[in-house]
Amino acid sequence: MNSLWLETVKKARDFSSLSYDIETDICIIGAGIFGLTCAYYLSRLGFKVVVLEKDGIGEKSTGHTTAKITSQHGLFYDYLIQAYGKKTASYYLEANEKAIENIKQIIDKEKIKCDFEYQNSYVYTTKKSEVRAIKKEVSAVESLGYPCEYVTKTGLPFDIEGAICFKNQAQLNPIKYLYGLCDSIINYGGHIYTHSVATNVEKNNDDMYVTYTDTNTVKSKYVIIATHYPFINFPGLYFTKMYQSTSYLIAVDTKKTLFNGMYINFTNPIFSYRTAKYEGKELLIVGGGDHKTGQPSCYQDTYGILEKEVKKYYPDSEVLFRWNTRDCMSLDKIPYIGTYSNLMPNVYVGTGFKKWGMTSSNVAANIIVDKICGNKNKYEHIFRSSRIKPIKNRDEMKNMIVQSTNSLFFEKLKRANMDFDKIENNSGSIIEVNSQKVGIYKDSEGKIYAVKPICTHLGCLLSWNDVDKTWDCPCHGSRFDYKGKNLYDPAFKDLDIYEV
Ligand code: FES
Repeated sequence: MNSLWLETVKKARDFSSLSYDIETDICIIGAGIFGLTCAYYLSRLGFKVVVLEKDGIGEKSTGHTTAKITSQHGLFYDYLIQAYGKKTASYYLEANEKAIENIKQIIDKEKIKCDFEYQNSYVYTTKKSEVRAIKKEVSAVESLGYPCEYVTKTGLPFDIEGAICFKNQAQLNPIKYLYGLCDSIINYGGHIYTHSVATNVEKNNDDMYVTYTDTNTVKSKYVIIATHYPFINFPGLYFTKMYQSTSYLIAVDTKKTLFNGMYINFTNPIFSYRTAKYEGKELLIVGGGDHKTGQPSCYQDTYGILEKEVKKYYPDSEVLFRWNTRDCMSLDKIPYIGTYSNLMPNVYVGTGFKKWGMTSSNVAANIIVDKICGNKNKYEHIFRSSRIKPIKNRDEMKNMIVQSTNSLFFEKLKRANMDFDKIENNSGSIIEVNSQKVGIYKDSEGKIYAVKPICTHLGCLLSWNDVDKTWDCPCHGSRFDYKGKNLYDPAFKDLDIYEV
C-alpha cells in the first residue's frame, strides 16, 4: 500500500531524466526534503542549480514520514546537556525552533497549500515509573530558557501519567510541500531531473566536480549529497557511523472526532500519533513497530501492533493506508551536516536526521547554503559532519560493528539450513545451491524468483523481510524488492538474479 501522502496528490509530479551533459553552479543529488530545500534557497539566491533524483519526487523517504515539524526530538535535551553541555543543547533547540519558522515563511512566501497547521507536541508516558524521566526532561528544557510544560491531561483517548509539551510546533502534508518547493525552484530558474541515478562524484583538473549519472554528467563547483544515506563510501566513511531503522505507519478512519496535538511515548512499544486531512475526513496516523533495518520482523510486531492499539480506542475504525519509513541513525544521535570530507572541499552532506528529518533538513539546508555563500552559521559546529569524537553512544557503536562483521563475514560462511521445498508460497528464504547462497521468493501462485542475496553496497548477506517481501541489508539498511531491484540506498545497483 502507498503512503497516505503519496495518495493525496493522486498524480505524481515528475520531470524528465537527464539526457545530456550539463554545467551548473551547484549539483544536488537527491530530491527529498533536504535536497529540495537547498535547491529552493540557492535558486532563490540566483545560483544555477541542478537537482538529480534517482526515483520520483519524495517517493522514498520524505513521502513516508509522519511529517511532524518540531524541536521536540523525543526526550533529548537532558541527554544533550549530559553529553555535550548546555550551550550545545541550547543551540540545537534554537536551530530547530528556527527551522519551524523558516518552513512557515517558505509556505507563506510561495503560497504552498500543504495542510500546514500549528500543533502542540507531546512526549508522554502511561507508566508511573517513567514520570521521573519526563520531569527530568522538563527541568533540562527549562534550564535552557525554553518554555515547555509538564501536563497530566492530553487529548489522547487514554489516560497518561505525565507528558512534556512544546507549544507551537507543526504538521503538514510532506508531498504537497515538496511539490510546492519544486514549483518555486523551477520559477527561480532551477532544473530538476528525476529517474537519474548519480553513480559517482569526481574532481576534475580545473577544480570542478563531475557528477556521473548512468548516462550523462553534471559539472559543477559545488555538490550537495542529499541522498537519504550517503552513497559515496570513500572518503567520508559514513557507513561506519550510521545505521538505518525501519518503522511502520497506518492511517485510520476512526469514525470519531479526533484530538489536537502530536504525540509520542519513549519506551517500547513506541506509538506516535498525529491527525491528517484526507478527502474531507480527518484520519488518525499511528506509527511505531521500529526495528533495525535488516533484522527479522513479522506482521504482528509491525503493522499488527499498531492496528491492535487503535482498535482498543476506536473499535469501528478502518485502516485506509499502511506504509513504512526508514531513518538514518547517527551513533551520537546528532545529524551530520557540513563538508562531506576534508578530502572533498565544496562537497556537502546532510544526513543522520534520525526520525526528525522534516525539521532537521531545514537546519541542514541553512547551514549548507551559508557555507556556499561564505556566511558564518551559528549552529554549524554542533553538526560538523567530519566529527569522529566523542562517540557518546559506545554500546550502539559496538552493536553496529558486531552486526556488520557478522553479516559481512560469518553469516556468509554459515550453511543456510532452509530447504527449497519448505519455503511456502508468498514467502522467501536463503537456500544453499552448489555451496552458493541463493535468495528464493515464491509468490502466491508459487512462481519462483531467485537472487544473489549479497548487498551491492559493501557485500553483506541480506535477510528476507516477510512483511514487505523485500531483501534487506542488516549492515547499513539498503533494501531490494524480491526481483532484486534496488529500492533504498546506500546501494544503488540491483542484485544479480538467477534464471529459474
Ligand atoms: Fe552496506 Fe548493505 S547497505 S553492505
